[in-house]
Amino acid sequence: MERISDVKWMQQRANELRTQGKSIGFVPTMGYLHEGHLSLVDAVRKEHDVVVMSIFVNPTQFGPNEDFDSYPRDIERDESLAKARGVDIVFYPQVKDMYPGDDLTWVNVEKITGVLCGASREGHFRGVTTIVTKLINIVKPHTMVLGQKDAQQAAVLTKMVEDLNMDVKLIIAPIVREADGLAMSSRNVRLTPENRKYALVLSQSLSLLRQEMQSGADLKHSLEKAKEKISSTPNAELEYLEARSYPLLDLVEQPTGKTLIAVAVRFGDVRLIDNILL
Ligand code: PAJ
Repeated sequence: MERISDVKWMQQRANELRTQGKSIGFVPTMGYLHEGHLSLVDAVRKEHDVVVMSIFVNPTQFGPNEDFDSYPRDIERDESLAKARGVDIVFYPQVKDMYPGDDLTWVNVEKITGVLCGASREGHFRGVTTIVTKLINIVKPHTMVLGQKDAQQAAVLTKMVEDLNMDVKLIIAPIVREADGLAMSSRNVRLTPENRKYALVLSQSLSLLRQEMQSGADLKHSLEKAKEKISSTPNAELEYLEARSYPLLDLVEQPTGKTLIAVAVRFGDVRLIDNILL
């Protein structure tokens, strides 16, 4: 496995690979890898000659009061997991190289970035769309794979790629969960053992909502019940639980078309998200 941290060198390698007619599959991550990230490698491994994974904790997608400094990092562990899963190149640039400090350009997707996570995390999606554009320009992938875990991020990046005519195919891979249902996340390690148990309320509420929708229950009523259940869970602070059309993220009254039910809950300073797509 190659390890590249130099931006220019990564671009040169990508050009070389493309000239040789090799296809590039790309997995962007912020590291501290878990099975959710590694499942994304599987999603592109077979159909591509080369799999590139980026590991970069992107400062511009964290707000001033968010967990950029405490975000878990372990590059050595990540490298060995990536290698074992069949990644060919790990690209891990430094902040000073990705943002030299004189940059003036941002990529911004409108409307769908102002709801759900965008409502409380101002500037978050602008940071995501900007870094992913930069990564695409550096890694030059044929295919990029994203996780359904971050459903709004997947919707926003799909729109960005479409609107800006970016020549990259997107794959959205399903959510990988712990045995008890908790959606895997690098942030889960920051939960106290007590809150780790209470955090099950996210996946449990969503699977109950799925069942209820399948048996024709009233969406508004089911959402209210689920909100009460979450709000009465110790230490849980509900940020949102909403049903929205996918991928345009308009609020819906009944799940007629493709519908996303998404939830965000804080346990102390650990913010967890989960969703289902009906
Ligand atoms: P990160 O949170 O590290 O996630 C990297 C990718 O892994 C994302 O596409 C995310 O949706 C996916 N992922 C995370 N947990 C998952 C799970 N349990 N099941 C399936 N996929 C999962 O998302 C980011 O980083 C950043 O915003 C990034 C796109 C890299 C831009 O900085």
